[in-house]
Amino acid sequence: MDTRFRLDGKVAVVTGANGLLGRHHVTALEAAGATVIAVDIDVDVTSESSLEELRSSILSTYGRLDIIVNNAAVNDMVENPVSILEASRFENSSVELFRRVLDVNVTGVYLCCRILGSILAEQGSGSIINIGSTYGTVAPNQSLYINEQGEQTFFKSAVYPVSKGAVRMLTRFLASYWGHRGVRVNTLSPGGVANNQPDWFYEQYAKSTPLRRMAEANDYEGALVFLASDASAYLTGHDLVVDGGYTIW
Ligand SMILES: NC(=O)c1ccc[n+]([C@@H]2O[C@H](COP(=O)([O-])OP(=O)(O)OC[C@H]3O[C@@H](n4cnc5c(N)ncnc54)[C@H](O)[C@@H]3O)[C@@H](O)[C@H]2O)c1
Repeated sequence: MDTRFRLDGKVAVVTGANGLLGRHHVTALEAAGATVIAVDIDVDVTSESSLEELRSSILSTYGRLDIIVNNAAVNDMVENPVSILEASRFENSSVELFRRVLDVNVTGVYLCCRILGSILAEQGSGSIINIGSTYGTVAPNQSLYINEQGEQTFFKSAVYPVSKGAVRMLTRFLASYWGHRGVRVNTLSPGGVANNQPDWFYEQYAKSTPLRRMAEANDYEGALVFLASDASAYLTGHDLVVDGGYTIW
């Protein structure tokens, strides 16, 4: 059974590979034996020409591609909000930001699937993993962002959950579209990751989670290797939610 989790001889691309989770996706796939092409803003996922260049370079260097992890995204977070409180209110939110987030989080995944994923379809095998979020399933609970003084510090945007809901549907579309070509397409939906958030936020998030903690950045490694490998050979179109139970109650 253990060999079904191995990725020896497989070639993988991870987008957003310099980020908090991207680095762990790379390490996990490499540890399982894959050769990993780690790309970040050097390959803009919203640019067709940038992705066409990557496609040519993968084909000329490796002649194949087996795994794509569509991880690059823009995310507004309490520890690093894109906008301050007033600007983060839905009523005041910027349409430019809405369009930009959809461009990276949805159009970027669509383009990577179309331009890179078609290598997998032509080859007749492969696994695509689109990184979603619990917020692709449940709406943000804005009360998580109220501090000890009872002040709302930040509102999570509308566009982030909208974008992650779209990623889940793109996964299902492609799982259906490419199933007969031997390409599996799944979503991996993480919950919130501990990353120097204020203590009050961490505690509120932990209380909202059956396992009573936020994720560590390495908590998704096992699920990623499972989805990438033959251990999940009969799984496609699925949303694997790894969230300490955040979405079950
Ligand atoms: N951190 C969390 O709590 C959390 C929770 C749920 C889901 N996620 C999802 O996990 C994934 C990784 O999140 P993270 O926390 O590591 O984010 P991060 O911001 O640390 O990393 C994202 C990376 O994407 C890159 N990127 C942004 N725009 C790009 C573009 N146009 N082209 C290429 N690269 C681009 C950035 O440079 C960055 O390195 C994202 O899809 C995110 O939505 C994260």
